[in-house]
Amino acid sequence: MKGVILAGGLATRLRPLTWVTNKHLLPVYNKPMIYYPIESLVKAGIKEVLISCSPDHAGQFTNLLKGGAEFGVKFYYSVQENPKAGIANAIGGAKEFAGDEKIAVILGDNIFNYNLKPTVEKFKKREKGAVVFGIRMPGMESKHYGVIEIDSAGKVISIEEKPEKPKSNIAQTGVYFYDNRVFDFVAKLKPSDRGELEVTDLNNVYLKEGTLECDLLDWWIDAGTSHDELLKANNLVAEKIQAGKL
Ligand code: G1P
Repeated sequence: MKGVILAGGLATRLRPLTWVTNKHLLPVYNKPMIYYPIESLVKAGIKEVLISCSPDHAGQFTNLLKGGAEFGVKFYYSVQENPKAGIANAIGGAKEFAGDEKIAVILGDNIFNYNLKPTVEKFKKREKGAVVFGIRMPGMESKHYGVIEIDSAGKVISIEEKPEKPKSNIAQTGVYFYDNRVFDFVAKLKPSDRGELEVTDLNNVYLKEGTLECDLLDWWIDAGTSHDELLKANNLVAEKIQAGKL
């Protein structure tokens, strides 16, 4: 299984911090943001990682991360030409890198300390399917994300993108595992109203087929959505690292 980190986009909401650099390279406590998803993949035992970045500042990623020896993995780099084309489009860009393998995808601004390794090991043995990682949120907060509805046995019943009336308090994070058919499925997706190939539409293909599983993270931060979230991420990560929990 190979890893894919999506680190593209212009991060206009984080300007002026992102005029001269990419948001995934901004500091979160004592490390650049992208170190956290990389370390999550490394802990999961993944050895080859594609860093998908936007053309602007792409060289800064190679300057920082180099070949991957520091992390004990091998990095590959690709450029997402159109940062507004959506997460599923960026996943589609990993086709050549993936070869015949399954992929673990993490959005480059997602920070969590859940050990993905057991799910990776289980997923490697599955013939086909996908896994989406969710997080329980307080109140109606989940409505700002994809919302995952599960039954009492943990089976996924629905996923809706930013619904007005969320069917559950579980938000879809930016962590996904896919079998190798994902590239055929992405090729068949149509852009949503916001003009993007949506990861929620992609996950719904697996849901319809009955091969989508959901795992829940215990805590998760989407560090790159606003200045406030970035500040929150810095404080929370500092707390977790100092307490030996990250
Ligand atoms: C995207 C997905 C959404 C998911 C979120 C996680 O939202 O569309 O389903 O919950 O990432 O960060 P976006 O940030 O593109 O609005």
